[in-house]
Amino acid sequence: MAQQNIDGPPQQAKGVTRRDFLRLGVWAGLFILAAEGLAATVASLWPRAKAGGFGSVVTAGKVGDFPVGSMTYFPEYRFYLSRVEDGFLALNRKCTHLGCVVPWQKDEQSEDKLAPKGRLNCPCHAGIYNRYGQVVGGPPPRPLDLHPIAIEGGVIKVDTGKIVLRETYSPSQATRV
Ligand code: FES
Repeated sequence: MAQQNIDGPPQQAKGVTRRDFLRLGVWAGLFILAAEGLAATVASLWPRAKAGGFGSVVTAGKVGDFPVGSMTYFPEYRFYLSRVEDGFLALNRKCTHLGCVVPWQKDEQSEDKLAPKGRLNCPCHAGIYNRYGQVVGGPPPRPLDLHPIAIEGGVIKVDTGKIVLRETYSPSQATRV
């Protein structure tokens, strides 16, 4: 006569439950790892704009730190701050021809009257810009784009989230001190 276990479920049923439980644990662990990875990725992207990175309003410095004729590069914010006689220009570093990054060449002959040396030379097709971002040579079709500037209490703030296109330079583009 076959024996029956009357104190609980059969042994086989207990084994399946334990396996299912382990499987569930593994899946839960994988899910948590994936969720953490996703959260870390989102967190690494989100704070850039909130913490004052490119795409937000950033502080460039105090007006007195930048003499007329100076060109200051902010690589993390992707613009040059140029001080001309009319005020400040925040020049986007992207060439208006095909988008190469345009480096400042401090030892090259100047293409403006603000200083004897310094201009922007595009390495891709030899586009040349002066301190106003105006094209003085090569194929770029228009001046370098601008970012809006606000000066508050002598502090220069640049909105790297906005781009202003232009066809030529006019003194009204410069933010006056
Ligand atoms: S990309 Fe600058 S000159 Fe062509």
